[in-house]
Amino acid sequence: MNYQKLKGTLDFFQEEATKLRFIEEKAKSVLKTFGFEEIITPIIEATDIFVRSSGDNSDIVTKEMYTFLDRGNRSITLRPEGTASVVRSFLENKLYVNSTLAKFYYCGPMFRYERPQAGRYRQFMQFGIEVFGEGGPFLEAEVIISAYKLLVALGIKGIKLKINTIGDFASRKDYADKLKTYFTGQIDDFCPDCKKRLEKNPLRILDCKVDSGKELVLKAPKIKDSLSLTSLNNFNEVTDILTTMAVPFQIDESLVRGLDYYTDTVFEFILDIPGELQGLAICAGGKYADLVKNFGGPDIPGIGYAFGVERIMSVMTSQDLFTNLTKQTDIVMICLDPASKKMGLQLANQLRDENMIVEMDYKNYSLKQQFKLADKVNPRYIIIIGEEERNNGMITIKNTKNNTQEKIKKEQLIAYTKGKI
Ligand code: HAM
Repeated sequence: MNYQKLKGTLDFFQEEATKLRFIEEKAKSVLKTFGFEEIITPIIEATDIFVRSSGDNSDIVTKEMYTFLDRGNRSITLRPEGTASVVRSFLENKLYVNSTLAKFYYCGPMFRYERPQAGRYRQFMQFGIEVFGEGGPFLEAEVIISAYKLLVALGIKGIKLKINTIGDFASRKDYADKLKTYFTGQIDDFCPDCKKRLEKNPLRILDCKVDSGKELVLKAPKIKDSLSLTSLNNFNEVTDILTTMAVPFQIDESLVRGLDYYTDTVFEFILDIPGELQGLAICAGGKYADLVKNFGGPDIPGIGYAFGVERIMSVMTSQDLFTNLTKQTDIVMICLDPASKKMGLQLANQLRDENMIVEMDYKNYSLKQQFKLADKVNPRYIIIIGEEERNNGMITIKNTKNNTQEKIKKEQLIAYTKGKI
C-alpha cells in the first residue's frame, strides 16, 4: 500500500466512528435543553480572521495554521478553531438583529500544525458553543454549567474544572505592564517564544509549556492585584453561582489561555487521573468581551468553549463508558434462488421502513455460506425464503435466541417482528 493518512490525522470507522457520533449526539441533546441552535460555518476562511482574533503573536497564528494562497492569490486558512468563524458569521449575517442573546453550537474538524502525540492531532474535532449578548455572571456560570452537565451526561470521571479571571481590558493592561516590569532583566533565561511574549503579551509567559514551572513564573505578580472592581465582583459572582449549583472548581491564577481574545472569566476542564492524557484540557473557553467589536461589529460580548472530541473519546474508552455501540443487525434474509432474492429485497425494504436493520447476501451464496455470514452479524431473526415459501406466500422465520422457527404469511411479517425488535 503506497498511501497512508497524514501524520497527526485519524481515520474513524465502525465502532470508533459510532463513538464519535455518540458524543456529538449526546452533546447536542444536552445543549438543546439550554436553547442552543446549530451553526455550520465553512472550514476555510480568510487568514486575517484568525490572525485578528487569536492574536498575531499566538502559537496558533505563528506556528500552527494551515495557510495557503488559493488560485486567486487570496490567503486562505483551514480553521484552527471555531470561535473566529462563528463571530464572522454572526456579524456577516447580522444575527444580532432579532435577539438579545444568540446561542450557537457547532461541531467539526479543526486543523493545527502541532507535534502529534497522545491527544494532540493536526486534524481534530471540536464540539463548541458561542453565546452573544450581555448576560453578566449568570450567563458566564450557565455556560460553564452546560459544559459540566455534558461531562456528567457522558459519565466521565476524574475531571477538574480550573477557572480564573484575566480581567477586563483595563485590568489586563495593568497586569501586562506589571508582568513586563517583573520579567524584564530576567528574560534571557526564558525560551525564545517567551522573549517575544514579553513585548506583545506577557500574560502568555505564565502558561508557557517550557517555562511554566520556573520559580520566577511561580512568584510573578498575580492578576487579582490588577483587577478592576467590576471584574473582581463579576468573578466572585460567577464562582458563587457555581458553588450554589454544586459545580466543583479550583481557581487557578496561572490560567491565562493561549488565545488573545479572552477577557474576564476563563476556564478549562482538565483530566486529573493518571494516564497519558493527564493534565490535558478536554474542554476550554472563556469570555471575549471585545472580539465582536474588534471585528467591526456592535459592542456585544461573547462567551464560549470547545471540547476536543478525540480526547473525550479516549477518556471514555479508558473508563469503559461506551456500551452497546456495536452494530446490532435485527434480521438477516437468506434467499435460496434469484427469484426468492427479489421477494427478499421487497420484504427487507418494508422492514427497513419500520427502522429495522436488515442485511442480506447479494451474491448467490449457498445456504450454508449464507448461514455462516448470518452467524458473523448475529441477528435477532433469520428469514429464509426458497421456492416452496415463494409459491405459498410464506416465509420461514428463525428466532436465533431460542433456536425456534416457524412459518408465517409474508403479510404478517411486519406485525410479527415489530413488537419483538
Ligand atoms: P482551545 O483551548 O484552543 O480553545 O481548544 C479547545 C479544546 O480543543 C482543547 O481543550 C482540546 O480539548 C481540543 N484541542 C485543541 N487542540 C487540539 C489538538 N491539536 N488535538 C486534539 N484536541 C485539541 C479554542 O479552540 C477556543 N476556540 C474555545 C472557545 C470557544 N473559547 C471561546 N469559545
